Amino acid sequence: MKLRDVVPNRENTDNFNIQPNSITEVGTTLENLKAAVNGETGASAKYAAFAKAADEQGYPQLAGLFRATSAAEQIHIGLEAGLIEKVEPDFQRPTAPAAEAHQTDVNLIQGALGEIYETSDMYPSFIAKAVEEGDNAAVMVFTRAKLAEAVHAELYLDAYNNISCPDDDKYYLCPICGYIHKGSDFEKCPICWCPADKFTAY
Ligand SMILES: [Fe+2]
Ligand SMILES: [Fe+2]
Repeated sequence: MKLRDVVPNRENTDNFNIQPNSITEVGTTLENLKAAVNGETGASAKYAAFAKAADEQGYPQLAGLFRATSAAEQIHIGLEAGLIEKVEPDFQRPTAPAAEAHQTDVNLIQGALGEIYETSDMYPSFIAKAVEEGDNAAVMVFTRAKLAEAVHAELYLDAYNNISCPDDDKYYLCPICGYIHKGSDFEKCPICWCPADKFTAY
């Protein structure tokens, strides 16, 4: 994802349209935040299982990618649950169901499919509803997650295409928004502008 001279948002970016065959059930923003937390909790657990499988199958670099994305989804959970807890202080964060892993190439495609759904259907639907409700905090949290998920999908497909020719790059996770950069040659997060030296390497 290119670094622009503006922080990307719904007004200055052209990829916030909802898929015409949307399968997202849209409720109130509070309900949507809970649905997003559920989805991210499942994704995070799935990627943790995929990381373990990648290590066992001899793909240490891709284990790092899955660990970084698993941690990125935890960042999204924290942001979304934080908004829920402002309204419902006793909100119980869900626990993840047991996740099954397959061969790493299959896991990468499964991951990419989930990320593409989130970035192109779920989050755009939730953002539109939050805009309608005038909930700017939810718009911002959903927007950052939406933008990060597309990058996760891109990284999974890049890893899929290059699975038989790994390199020495590590994956760097933005601690603010869950963006991930492959390799250390970057200045700041293109989504939230967090400087590169705050990122965590996987
Ligand atoms: Fe993601
Ligand atoms: Fe970021």
